Amino acid sequence: MEKMEMLYEGKAKKVFKTDDKDVYHIVYKDDATAFNGVKKGTISDKGAVNNQMSAILFEMLEEKGVPTHFVKLLNEREMLVKAVEILPLEVIVRNIAAGSLAKRLGLEEGVVMEETVLEFCYKNDDLGDPMINDYHIAAIKLATKEQVEVVKKYAFMINEVLVDFFKERKIKLVDFKIEFGVYEGKVILADEISPDTCRLWDAESNKKLDKDRFRRDLGDVEDAYQEVLKRLK
Ligand code: TMP
Repeated sequence: MEKMEMLYEGKAKKVFKTDDKDVYHIVYKDDATAFNGVKKGTISDKGAVNNQMSAILFEMLEEKGVPTHFVKLLNEREMLVKAVEILPLEVIVRNIAAGSLAKRLGLEEGVVMEETVLEFCYKNDDLGDPMINDYHIAAIKLATKEQVEVVKKYAFMINEVLVDFFKERKIKLVDFKIEFGVYEGKVILADEISPDTCRLWDAESNKKLDKDRFRRDLGDVEDAYQEVLKRLK
C-alpha cells in the first residue's frame, strides 16, 4: 500500500492517506507533550514503543471480541489502520486513584477504587479537554446515545482484558484513556494504547512505568517505556 499525503499531524502521531481510501498510514513520533501541550519534550524511541505496544494490544483485544482500527504493523514505528472518523471523546477508565481524579476527589494516589470509574472528556484542545457526561454528549451531539452505550460496553471489556494481561506481566493498570472511531457505521477502538495513554505501575515496587515520569520529571523515562514493551513481548 502506498503512503500518500499527510492528513493530520497530532502531538504524538502523523496520519497519512494511502491509495486505499479505507486505510490510513500512522507514523508514531518521539515528541512528548503534557498539560495540553504546555510542557514539550522528546522521549527517545517512544514512537517505536507506542506503535509496537499498541499493535500487540489491538491484536489481543480483537481476539477477545473488541473491534479495533488495527490493520497491520509495517515496521517499528508505523502501522496501517482503518480510516475511521474519530468520535471527539476521551474515554477514561480508572481502577486505582491517580492524577486528576486523586486531586479532584482528595484521594491519595494508589487507593483502589471500589468500582471501576468511567469518565468522558470532550476532545477539544482549545477548551482543555473538559470532563463531560452522557447528557453533554447528547446535547451537543458528540455521539449518539447508541454509540455511547457501545463505547461504555467496550471500555469495560477492554479494562477487564487489559487488567489481566498486565497483571500477568507484573504491572498494575491504574488507569487509561482510549478513543473510538466510526468505520462502516460501527464504533471501533482507535488511536493508541501505550505508556502515553495508560498509567502503569510495577506490581511489586509501584514504580511508575508511564508518561507520568515525563509529566512529573521523575527521570528514567526512556527506560520505563522500554521496560513495558519488553514485558509485553
Ligand atoms: P488524568 O488523571 O490526568 O485525568 O489522566 C487519566 C488517564 O488518561 C491517564 O492514564 C493518562 C491519560 N491521559 C491521556 O492519555 N491524555 C491526556 O491528555 C490526559 C490528560 C490523560
